[in-house]
Amino acid sequence: MKTKTLTSVSVVNPQKLKINSTTHLLYVIPSNYEEILNNIREFGILTPLLVNKDYVVISGNLRLKIAIELKLKKVPVVFTDTPNEMMDILAVSSNKFRTKSMVDIASEIRFYDEYYSLRRGERTDLNPQMKLVKDEKDSAYKSIGQYRINKIKSIEKKLKKLHGNTEYSIDILNKQLRKIDEDVCTLNELDKKLERELLNKCNEENKGLKYEIKTQMVSIFNKDCIDMSELKNGMIQTIITSPPYYWMFDYGTGKDQNGQEKTVEEYVENLVRIFDEAKRVLKDDGSLFVNINDCVIKGIYQSVPELFLIEMKKRGWLYVDCYFWLKSNPRYTQGKRSVRNFEPIYHFVKSEDYYYTQDWVLSINDPENNISLSKSGFKPKLKSGLDYRDKVLSTSSSNTQELRDKCKKENLPMENSCTFPIMLPTIFVLSTSKPGDLILDMFSGTGTTAESCILLDRKYVGYEVNPLFIKASEIRLSDYELGQVA
Ligand SMILES: C[S@@+](CC[C@H](N)C(=O)[O-])C[C@H]1O[C@@H](n2cnc3c(N)ncnc32)[C@H](O)[C@@H]1O
Repeated sequence: MKTKTLTSVSVVNPQKLKINSTTHLLYVIPSNYEEILNNIREFGILTPLLVNKDYVVISGNLRLKIAIELKLKKVPVVFTDTPNEMMDILAVSSNKFRTKSMVDIASEIRFYDEYYSLRRGERTDLNPQMKLVKDEKDSAYKSIGQYRINKIKSIEKKLKKLHGNTEYSIDILNKQLRKIDEDVCTLNELDKKLERELLNKCNEENKGLKYEIKTQMVSIFNKDCIDMSELKNGMIQTIITSPPYYWMFDYGTGKDQNGQEKTVEEYVENLVRIFDEAKRVLKDDGSLFVNINDCVIKGIYQSVPELFLIEMKKRGWLYVDCYFWLKSNPRYTQGKRSVRNFEPIYHFVKSEDYYYTQDWVLSINDPENNISLSKSGFKPKLKSGLDYRDKVLSTSSSNTQELRDKCKKENLPMENSCTFPIMLPTIFVLSTSKPGDLILDMFSGTGTTAESCILLDRKYVGYEVNPLFIKASEIRLSDYELGQVA
């Protein structure tokens, strides 16, 4: 950007100067306006305004506004012979160090996007001029930060979907962004909240919709799993499931969903009733794996997994193991405590004579003992700390991001579907069932357990209250052969 600045400072009557209309429209009055005004009243304008030969301000709109308000007779200026086409970009980039609100930042992003609008698919590497523009845009973006840019764009996209493209306006975005300036929430929290609103909207639009999958290999019933009357006594070999955690996430499907109860006791009571029904359908030598998590309310852990475990034992379940799913991307735990990066998974059985094999551990390549332990004189065994590392198991695990992208294309909001990594059900399926067996997940979600079953040649049955998640499961399973429609 070539402009010649004449460095000597002149003194000019502020009435002669003209406000820069681009930055005037772009930025709102900063929250510390009064403070700046009082400073100028006391000490005068110490940093000269940057203006062009026509007396248009390039940098210093705010100082000019205050000078006029304080009826100052003279302000210091530096003249520059900036060409007209460079005025806007110079004006915006000279505001780098201004204290900006989120609304200002969003306006800046829009300005930069428009100013540097590159034609899609343009090979910038082959075109030096375009490459220069791209580099300039990257450096402008850098001053804002990619994280903020991505979040603001994602928020804008969601607001457009929520309000519809014709109803949507910048005022709607600004109203939301002001909440961040007022410390009501963070950018990420706002983005997540809108994601939930989108899911609720989608659920609302699909109210009454029933969506089920019924094939030879996979059946998913669209109903509350408290009643699994479709399943005969003792027909399930292994159950692998992750109920909605207490107070963690409202899936927007109303009273049928678990997790929104008033007390932990009520939550646990509702869950164990479902697992009574699970006991009916489980074979005598079958296994049940439950992934359950705790939550902090008013600064205190609620001991949800422990209360659940004790209640399950009271109902006659035999507690044979506990796995720790060590997470690579845990939620941030608030308060005076560590970030909890594990979730327990309990293994229950009906009788001591349950089917269990570790033979598959012999066939995996695990020289660094990432998931197994071998000691001389003993067969290698699976370790209970399941560190989620890719490629440890040789199954072709699906990537959740890939599923999210596919769902996005189909307009299904699946950012917060709370899926577990496919490696978890895979380990439990291999350890407690044989090919051809029937596996159940009564909180089926997006069908992670289902995909694991298909990969390992087991049959699958699921229950899910949200028809959209069943649609997502269908998308997930679309690349596999599921047999004829049953
Ligand atoms: C934690 S998610 C399960 C995610 C799943 N493991 C996966 O990987 O996609 C819990 C699911 O249970 C569903 N759900 C909640 N209450 C239910 C109920 N009573 N019966 C059936 N499904 C229920 C929710 O809609 C949600 O999809």
